[in-house]
Amino acid sequence: MTAMTELSGGPSLPQERRVVTAVPGPKSQELMARKQAAVAGGIGTVLPVFARRAGGGVLEDVDGNSFIDLGSGIAVTSVGNSAEAVVRRATEQLNAFTHTCAMVTPYEPYVQVCEELAKLTPGDHAKKSALFNSGAEAVENAVKVARAYTGRQAVVVFDHGYHGRTNLTMALTAKNMPYKHSFGPFAPEVYRVPVAYPFRWLTGPENCAEEAAAQAIEQITKQIGADNVAAIIIEPVLGEGGFIVPAKGFLPKMQQFARDNGIVFVADEIQSGFCRTGQWFACEDEGLVPDLITTAKGIAGGLPLAAVTGRAEIMDAAHSGGLGGTYGGNPVACAAALGSIETMRELDLPAKARRIEEIMKPRLEKMAERFGVIGEVRGRGAMLAIELVQPGGKEPNPEATAALAKACHQQGVLILTTGTYGNVVRFLPPLVIGEDLLNEALDVLEDALSQL
Ligand SMILES: Cc1ncc(COP(=O)(O)O)c(C=O)c1O
Repeated sequence: MTAMTELSGGPSLPQERRVVTAVPGPKSQELMARKQAAVAGGIGTVLPVFARRAGGGVLEDVDGNSFIDLGSGIAVTSVGNSAEAVVRRATEQLNAFTHTCAMVTPYEPYVQVCEELAKLTPGDHAKKSALFNSGAEAVENAVKVARAYTGRQAVVVFDHGYHGRTNLTMALTAKNMPYKHSFGPFAPEVYRVPVAYPFRWLTGPENCAEEAAAQAIEQITKQIGADNVAAIIIEPVLGEGGFIVPAKGFLPKMQQFARDNGIVFVADEIQSGFCRTGQWFACEDEGLVPDLITTAKGIAGGLPLAAVTGRAEIMDAAHSGGLGGTYGGNPVACAAALGSIETMRELDLPAKARRIEEIMKPRLEKMAERFGVIGEVRGRGAMLAIELVQPGGKEPNPEATAALAKACHQQGVLILTTGTYGNVVRFLPPLVIGEDLLNEALDVLEDALSQL
């Protein structure tokens, strides 16, 4: 048991919304002035308060305000901040050793995480994993592995896709601002094809899956040549693009096309994975078994860890020494991941995510009936969103989205926005959040919508 201090966060933190100063309060404002002087301007801020501690479903700032957390540090603290098993296992590891470099002297927690990934990810084929620091790094390595395995170069990604901020992953990412603008040139041999986005499919949602898949496949075969494609990479629920759930049937069609043409099918589950959508991985919803799967974020309860997991013969295609990095699979991060996975199992967090959907979705749908600004409610589990439009049509409404986020922040509810058009409010609560807190956050949201 770790000693409680004034700064102890974690599950014991009072689970309440509390706004005791203006937001941001004076201490946060003081720190913001220091941030502006010392931190590069490219590092933005969503909610301009400084965190002091966090746990369960709340985040407390330096002025004593306590926010209901509907962001989880962008889908990371699914087990809650400073979850007991994460802290316990990471602390034990910190006391044992902090780093040897897995490529120099391996250690058991690295192997244990890879064993867990083999068990938890879809498919009962032989699997292997490699561990990295960030989601972007995992995606880059999935591309390296797929290229080594196929001897091909082209990589196919989708409209509204997001895969990271490194050079290759910027190329894989669809949206210019803020991710790509002024940062080119980007990596070559990356091709983008349509995705089945039901709400915005021009001929309507009914035939969206068939039409989008047909268009994507035609573009791949005519413009690239299927036998030049190493990998097709897709998020089973597109995160930064706006929590787009591809129309049912689209993902299986793309996987089948990949299979028929010797293309490595990669599910990027960095945001949607690890219980978030009500299953361990979002691609299970349509019974997909990806060749490779990239994970990060929720895997380690807040410590930096990422993985590529996949068919053993594909993962073994890279030569010895071809994959790795100084810190990839750091022992403390691996210990944290084992604590995070232990918590997910013990608390049955996929079920908790489904329960969050049960509470939130009907209330959001009621709000959509009441407020014309909500064009669509969508998502699965605890990965839910509302897309905001000009009432009466589908024109994106980023202004209302920003105003809504700000109003919630002022009232002590941390929500995040997303989407190609900046008009989506996304909800990513920690999966351990209390139901009262969740309902209170929805009350605040409803009130803010009524005042838009
Ligand atoms: C689907 C997806 N892929 C990749 C990334 C990049 O992960 P990281 O920010 O850890 O590099 C993200 C991050 O939001 C993501 O949502």
